[in-house]
Amino acid sequence: MSQTSQYSDVPDLGRRQFMNLLTFGTITGVAAGALYPIVKYFIPPSSGGAGGGSVAKDALGNDVVVSKFLEEHKPGDRTLAQGLKGDPTYLVIKEDKTLENYGINAVCTHLGCVVPWNGSENKFICPCHGSQYNSEGKVVRGPAPLSLALAHATVNDSDKVVFTPWTETDFRTDEKPWWS
Ligand code: FES
Repeated sequence: MSQTSQYSDVPDLGRRQFMNLLTFGTITGVAAGALYPIVKYFIPPSSGGAGGGSVAKDALGNDVVVSKFLEEHKPGDRTLAQGLKGDPTYLVIKEDKTLENYGINAVCTHLGCVVPWNGSENKFICPCHGSQYNSEGKVVRGPAPLSLALAHATVNDSDKVVFTPWTETDFRTDEKPWWS
């Protein structure tokens, strides 16, 4: 009997651990944001193997499996993954519960903090100096001078997300991408 109730607790425990992980991720995300410019300084731009593209990884360093990812997230969610050159990059779930074909680089264009997603405001709001970006990562309030960078996000035959460099016109500004 007690075993049954123990097992029935498992999904709840799983959910709680996941929430803890998310909270941890948010806090460390802010801390990492403060450190990011320093770390970035020591990593040569050529490292990280971004040449052809890179498979998105979750907070634990595992490849993101798209079908599972979509089961675990809601439409409208923006979730951090490891992107090109190791940059924290948001995966976006569209209202039709499919994956958006671009990822949004979370590195603030002001001084490089990692910018958290604020679902209730429907914006990315930088904790460092208050810059704001809309749901597509377009800058709507400074001091950030530029929108968040984009990367293509495609699903490969193995149900994984592959980020590749975005070199085309930025659809949010109709300008050349400042990051490539
Ligand atoms: Fe984001 Fe300054 S680093 S507003």
